[in-house]
Amino acid sequence: MKPSASLALLTLAALASVSAALVRGSPSADRDRDQDRDRDHEDRDHEDRDRDISFEYHRYEELRKALVSVWLQCPSVTRIYTVGESFEGRELLVLEMSDNPGAHEPGEPEFKYIGNMHGNEAVGRELIIYLAQYLCNQYQQGNDTIINLIHNTRIHLMPSMNPDGFEKAASQSGEIKDWFVGRSNAQGVDLNRNFPDLDRIIYINEREGGANNHLLQNMKKAVDENSKLAPETKAVIHWIMDIPFVLSANLHGGDVVANYPYDETRTGSAHEYSASPDDVVFKSLARAYSMYNPVMSDPHRAPCRKTDDDSSFTDGITNGGAWYSVPGGMQDFNYLSSNCFEITLELSCDKFPSEDVLKSYWDQNRNSLVNYIEQVHRGVKGFVRDLQGNPISNASISVEGINHDLTTANDGDYWRLLAPGNYKVAASAPGYLTVIKKVAVAFSPATRVRLTHT
Ligand SMILES: *[C@@H]1O[C@H](CO)[C@@H](O)[C@H](O)[C@H]1NC(C)=O
Ligand SMILES: *[C@@H]1O[C@H](CO)[C@@H](O)[C@H](O)[C@H]1NC(C)=O
Repeated sequence: MKPSASLALLTLAALASVSAALVRGSPSADRDRDQDRDRDHEDRDHEDRDRDISFEYHRYEELRKALVSVWLQCPSVTRIYTVGESFEGRELLVLEMSDNPGAHEPGEPEFKYIGNMHGNEAVGRELIIYLAQYLCNQYQQGNDTIINLIHNTRIHLMPSMNPDGFEKAASQSGEIKDWFVGRSNAQGVDLNRNFPDLDRIIYINEREGGANNHLLQNMKKAVDENSKLAPETKAVIHWIMDIPFVLSANLHGGDVVANYPYDETRTGSAHEYSASPDDVVFKSLARAYSMYNPVMSDPHRAPCRKTDDDSSFTDGITNGGAWYSVPGGMQDFNYLSSNCFEITLELSCDKFPSEDVLKSYWDQNRNSLVNYIEQVHRGVKGFVRDLQGNPISNASISVEGINHDLTTANDGDYWRLLAPGNYKVAASAPGYLTVIKKVAVAFSPATRVRLTHT
């Protein structure tokens, strides 16, 4: 992992508990007292960090108010916008955090979190709200890690992609919620099975030759006219197409694991490891989440239910297809239709746990949520320009040995997430000679490579 402040914190915490075990039974009362004092400090730090975070469920109106109050508290680095409406007319709200809200800055990568696409999987929805409150608080308090993150990244936070489903799930009386009520949107559509199934196309292209990226190219109109797509799905497809996202995660519940592409198996079998060309990168991204979450990464964690088959889980991560095949999911759609790499996070055994445990989920996930955003700065990034210095948009960025190309954004800027290693990166565009450069990628931050065309 990147030697960031959060890693230092994790290491210190681990060391502290080891030394506590060592001094137990030691004659030195002084040392025990020191330790108690350290613990007091830690507790106070935690409380301070979590001040102004409302550890409760937010119904639709409350969610809206919570986002507005973050915006009022941190107006210079936030903006609220909507990407569309749910079937019942609720807005799909996004809180954006950036030093220049509302605009793509050339060279600055874009990141998104999407929660609650299954309306009854409620923990992710709340964690995204708490994350917004946390980032704003820390920004105001001068936390350098968070200031750097917000100044160098455009972060988009969508707590709920399925606000109708959530209202339905939350309206059930009593603490225990049904396992299925509110999962789908108001039309009964499971949004994570509703995306155009681009896996089927890529698997044919792999065998027969054909595009290895942006498979929805020039099909925007077909998307709009497709009556099988739910309004929530259409809105998110447009969002994915309109913003040059680099990295994303969608937050679910019902298990505890970080799941990475492909979700749909090549043969159609129910369980089968389904590597994407970026398998190494995706594993590393999924680990960047799981390793900061002590429950997810615990090798001795008992399965959520006795009957669960977790045999595909290692280090708190799993390939999607190896776990169970999902056609029409959002994760694979991101990768196959855009430059965005997305993983799926399962955050809790209970989909809709009681309110009093929400804070414990925040404690488990806070470092992971921040660390995962930081991964957007890994790999290679830069600009593709012609000899006069004009940006070339929609140029192809390819990496030798990885059969998945990306494209440059409007300013000729690109971000190619890569695991550490040595690579040959090429930029090509119709009418220009291809440029190839050798690059060594360290863990972090991204290596800058300017690709000038002749
Ligand atoms: C600053 O933010 C990082 C990332 O969330 C966190 O690990 C660190 O503890 C924060 N620093 C303080 C002083 O709270
Ligand atoms: C981008 O480039 C590809 C391949 O060169 C081409 O097929 C596609 O139409 C271009 N897209 C746009 C929006 O120009």
